[in-house]
Amino acid sequence: MGFLYSQFFVTPKYPTESFADQIIIVTGSNVGLGLEAARHFSRCNAKKVVLAVRNVAAGEKAKQSIEKSTGRTDVCEVWELDLASYASVKAFAERASKLPRIDVLLENAGIATRNFSLAEGHERTITVNVISTFILGLLLLPKLQATAKEIPSRKPHWTIVSSEVHAWTNLPEWKSSNTSIPDFKTVEVLVVREIAPKVADSGVILNMLNPGLCHSELARDGGWLLWFMKLVLARTTEVGGRTLVAAATVGDESQGAYMTDGEVNNGALGAFVTSEDGEKAQKKVWTELKEILEKVQPGITSSC
Ligand SMILES: NC(=O)c1ccc[n+]([C@@H]2O[C@H](COP(=O)([O-])OP(=O)(O)OC[C@H]3O[C@@H](n4cnc5c(N)ncnc54)[C@H](OP(=O)(O)O)[C@@H]3O)[C@@H](O)[C@H]2O)c1
Repeated sequence: MGFLYSQFFVTPKYPTESFADQIIIVTGSNVGLGLEAARHFSRCNAKKVVLAVRNVAAGEKAKQSIEKSTGRTDVCEVWELDLASYASVKAFAERASKLPRIDVLLENAGIATRNFSLAEGHERTITVNVISTFILGLLLLPKLQATAKEIPSRKPHWTIVSSEVHAWTNLPEWKSSNTSIPDFKTVEVLVVREIAPKVADSGVILNMLNPGLCHSELARDGGWLLWFMKLVLARTTEVGGRTLVAAATVGDESQGAYMTDGEVNNGALGAFVTSEDGEKAQKKVWTELKEILEKVQPGITSSC
C-alpha cells in the first residue's frame, strides 16, 4: 500500500539547494535517474559534476543535454567507469582521488536483467551492483574523509541508490555456508547498515535511497507486466532524479539510513532487514563481501 500511495500521491520536492563549490560524482549518469540527478546538481550550481559512465560517447551526449538545459558549460566532465571491470573501477578511483575534493559520491549505476552472465567471476548483477559499488566507495572513502576535514560544517555524502525491491526477499541464501547471493539490492542495504556506523566517525554520511518506480532504461527486458506497471504508476525520470539529490543533501539523521520519497524513512525498510535474522545475515554478508573485496584490493576494508 505504501508503494501505491507513494507512486500516486507523493511528488518529491524539486531541488533548490545550492551545490556551489561542490565536486560531485554520479555513476551511470548518461541516462535515467543518474542523468536527471546530474542535471539537477549542475542547475543548482555545482562546481564540477563528473559523469562516470561506461560508454563515453553516451556520456558526451548526456553532457551536451545538461549544458543545453541548464545553460551552464564547463561543469560536467565525462569519465570512463565500467563497474563490470575491477581494473576500470580502480583506474577511475585513482583518477578521482586526484580531484581537489569530493563532496558527493552518488553511486547510482546498476543493472537489472534476467539474463545470466559473469563478470570478474561473479554473476554480473552482483559484480556491478554490489562488489564494484563498494570497491569504488571504499577506494574513495579516504578522499571523502579528507574533504570532511576541510569544511567540517558540510559533511560529504556517499550515497547508494537502492530500491524497495530489497524488501521482496528474506534472503534465504544467507543461511548456507558460503554462497553467491543473487538478491543484490537486499545485500546492498545490509552492507550499508553494517558499515555506516564505522564510516560515521570520519565525518562522512553514508546513506541509501529508494527512488520509487520511475521511467528509465532499467529493466529493458522486464516484460509486459513491468511495462504496464510503469505506464500506470511510474514517476518521470526527472522526479525520480530528485530523490537522488535529496539523499546528497540530508544531514546526520540519514547516516546508514534508508530514504524513500526523498525523506529518511527507516520504517520503510523490509521486515527481514530489521529482523533478528536480518541482523545476523548482515554480519555474514559483510564478512563474505569483505573477503571478496580484500582479494581485489588488499587493505580496502581496513576502516570498516
Ligand atoms: N527506475 C526505477 O524504477 C528504479 C527503481 C528502484 C531503483 N532503481 C535504481 O536506480 C539506479 C539507476 O537506474 P535507472 O532506473 O536510471 O536505470 P538506467 O536508465 O538503466 O540507468 C542505469 C545506468 O547504469 C549504467 N550502468 C550499467 N552497467 C554499468 C556498468 N557496468 N558500469 C557503469 N555503469 C553501468 C548504465 O549505463 P549504460 O547506459 O551504458 O547501460 C546507465 O547509465 C539503479 O541502481 C536502479 O537499480 C531504479
